Amino acid sequence: MATLTKPLPKAAMQVPLLDLKPQYQPLAGEIQEAIGKVCASQHFILGPAVKELEASVAAYSQCRFGIGVSSGTDALLLALMALEIGAGDEVITSPFTFFATAGTIARSGARPLFCDIDPATFNLSPAAVEAFINAQCVERGGQLRHQRTGGRVRALMPVHLYGQVADMAPFTRLAQRYGLRIIEDAAQAIGSADAEQRRACSFGDVGCLSFFPTKNLGAFGDAGMCVTNDAALAERMQILRVHGGKPKYYHPFIGGNFRIDELQAAVLNVKLRHLDDWSAARQRNAAFYDAALRGARDRVSGGARANQVAHLPGCLENLEDPGASAISRSAAAIASVGLGDPFPALQAKQTIARISRDIGGTQLPFDLAAIAKDADEALSNEGAQG
Ligand SMILES: Cc1ncc(COP(=O)(O)O)c(C=O)c1O
Repeated sequence: MATLTKPLPKAAMQVPLLDLKPQYQPLAGEIQEAIGKVCASQHFILGPAVKELEASVAAYSQCRFGIGVSSGTDALLLALMALEIGAGDEVITSPFTFFATAGTIARSGARPLFCDIDPATFNLSPAAVEAFINAQCVERGGQLRHQRTGGRVRALMPVHLYGQVADMAPFTRLAQRYGLRIIEDAAQAIGSADAEQRRACSFGDVGCLSFFPTKNLGAFGDAGMCVTNDAALAERMQILRVHGGKPKYYHPFIGGNFRIDELQAAVLNVKLRHLDDWSAARQRNAAFYDAALRGARDRVSGGARANQVAHLPGCLENLEDPGASAISRSAAAIASVGLGDPFPALQAKQTIARISRDIGGTQLPFDLAAIAKDADEALSNEGAQG
């Protein structure tokens, strides 16, 4: 099986993953004017730009409410807190994602349960989740319990990886059947839709977006948003975003400082108007890679599908060891076009190794020892090169 530590062949041409300057240059005047307005008003916290952004991003995501927050990570944490997920609870998620997905579940006090991914899309596999529930969970007093740990299985957290909406219909059915909440990690998927034109964030209880600068809609620093159709949940998130205080200085809950900056909102309001065009350009690039790499790889996935916003065109190579689980194969062999290094694979391995070591009882669709060894090797290799 290909491993992460295999040196990549020297590229004939270095293609940068993303150069944000050409995106900024034509909008420089407009963005500087928007920033200038905030400076003139000196209204830096939860001002009119935040309100405008919350309304437009919620509508763009087919949701009623938007709660602007400090990052995609904080969006996930806030959603978990608002749904009162914590100690003794467990959340089913994908191991093939950025660290923040499982990291925030662990930070909330809950335990992440990793199920396998779909090798065609790299997204959490509904079949694997159902098999896990059938084999390892029981319903007791209307509550799904993980038999091995006794933990309450409270939620599903699918990730719309690389801008591709996860297969949400079966997740929704499972959630209804077992009383689970759904938090969508849509950090990479703003505007992405399924075949019925339903957009990322509109399926579950809360959708979580990241506006990290390299995302399809990127701020000038860290920012994110929770979107929802549930008015009560929206209000709870608004309160938790300001240390659980409502009215000001009265704290019925313990929250955090999860606010988005007014300056970031002002920038994002300008950029949002161009998002459709940028996502279409990403789709064209992904289609180009798909076609160009068709003969060279066993498969290219994660981009160029109708309605998907092609955040990154991931490509899967050397599909050896077909008996291994999809996550083992993908984590071993995936590389992102243009990135030139196996960042997503390394992320998946670290997530798995770190979370599983620190929190006993996680559910693993693979051999942890092999994954952890590979992650360690990759890390020490990185150190040696750096
Ligand atoms: C899948 C996924 N989840 C969560 C996050 C966290 O977002 P942020 O970097 O804005 O905290 C990211 C961003 O890198 C991501 O790609």
